Amino acid sequence: MSEEKAVLSIGGKKIEFPILRGTEGDVAIDISKLYEEHRMTTYDPSLANTAVCKSTITYIDGEKGILRYRGIPIEQFVTEKPNFIEAAYLLLSGHLPTREEGESFRQRLTNNELLHENMRHNFRNVPTAAPPMAQLSASLSNLACFHREFLVLDDDDAFMEVSAALISKIRTIAAFIYRRSRGLPYIYPNPNLRYCANFLHMMFSIPYAHYEVSPEVEDALNLIFILHADHEQNCSAATVRTVGSSRANLFASCAAGICALWGSLHGGANVEVMQMLDGIHQGGISPEDCIKMAKDKNDKFRLFGFGHRIYKNYDPRAKILRDACDRVLASIKDTTNDPLLNIARRLEELALSDSYFIDRKLYPNVDFYSGLLLRAMNIPTNMFTVMFAIGRLPGWIAQWKEQHDLVGGRIIRPRQVYMGETETNFTPIEER
Ligand code: ACO
Repeated sequence: MSEEKAVLSIGGKKIEFPILRGTEGDVAIDISKLYEEHRMTTYDPSLANTAVCKSTITYIDGEKGILRYRGIPIEQFVTEKPNFIEAAYLLLSGHLPTREEGESFRQRLTNNELLHENMRHNFRNVPTAAPPMAQLSASLSNLACFHREFLVLDDDDAFMEVSAALISKIRTIAAFIYRRSRGLPYIYPNPNLRYCANFLHMMFSIPYAHYEVSPEVEDALNLIFILHADHEQNCSAATVRTVGSSRANLFASCAAGICALWGSLHGGANVEVMQMLDGIHQGGISPEDCIKMAKDKNDKFRLFGFGHRIYKNYDPRAKILRDACDRVLASIKDTTNDPLLNIARRLEELALSDSYFIDRKLYPNVDFYSGLLLRAMNIPTNMFTVMFAIGRLPGWIAQWKEQHDLVGGRIIRPRQVYMGETETNFTPIEER
């Protein structure tokens, strides 16, 4: 059988391209030799339709609203109730851990939960009100100064050790950033607690007072982290892979991922959602007027938490979080009169029946409901994107590893179509 080809006809010349079929999903035209052989490039602003890698980590079908980690549908991470660490292990290694593997990985996390004391002193002169995401990316970058043993990863064992160190330490760093911002004493991690409970302990314990972690809050946090754990080639994962492709170390690459996540069109959207809901509530704006503003092209306002580059259907993570919101919020507090939750539900109802949103296939994304859950757990709004980063870290690490392990992998370096001046002469200053 002849090999499947795509044919491009240009200036009377026919150019053939191999077709690349994944195990499922989109079919790709392999144009990787186009420049080398024909001195031609492709134009795809924002890389909206360019596959930059082959990947085995996460599968998304945006039309059908499907998300799977290593083949497992995201919904099964709700029904089977794994913990975040099992999901992280799955993303990193490609398989669910056996009991022994799970135990050994947990032990690695515990062994790595403390920060070098000098890490904290690094922040002595940083304003306490500094943006948490700036502190988080700086801290991850700083880990390279304290753990030079991880700068070169020789084998899979070293990789699992550095992964555990990063996943464990990011939680300690995040809690430290929060405590520092409030002028509260730093709480050391408790090796007897599970991942999420340990984080809550570091966030909310008061020295010498007993702090009981609420099982509902622990479960909800576990769910939030799992739902954020990977999302194939999103802006931050693509950043991590791009930085890693230059052979930059894992700390530096993940620090870059944090910077990418910070933006309001990416992870920063969960902050924008809460500010939007709060603004609507405080300003006495009706959800109906808010929808009008979102549709008005002369108004810069966007309905944050709506729309997605890939999902042209309900984001499956948003669906899970919407149900969790009803369940968890009811168990944590009285939700019958939560004005922000009521506004969110009304906005969703209006948008889903409005032709502007229907025609553009704009549905709630993961950020629409995550903020309401985080707020109910007493996580302050300026820490929301940090929470997203803790959840996303295993995905970034897995993506970095996949890029790192590519045989003959080249540095990621896109091209451009130059639209500037053609050759011109330098004008001396007196003639300008
Ligand atoms: N509110 C109002 N209109 C919107 C929205 C929105 N939230 N999102 C998209 N649109 C409109 C655009 O104005 C555009 O309309 P047009 O065709 O009339 O010009 C159309 O829908 C397509 O939107 P794009 O911006 O081209 O879509 P893109 O794929 O580039 O962007 C994005 C996706 C950034 C998520 C966008 O939908 C958005 O800004 N949403 C709000 C921010 C947000 O929630 N981000 C979180 C994403 S999920 C994540 O990162 C975890």
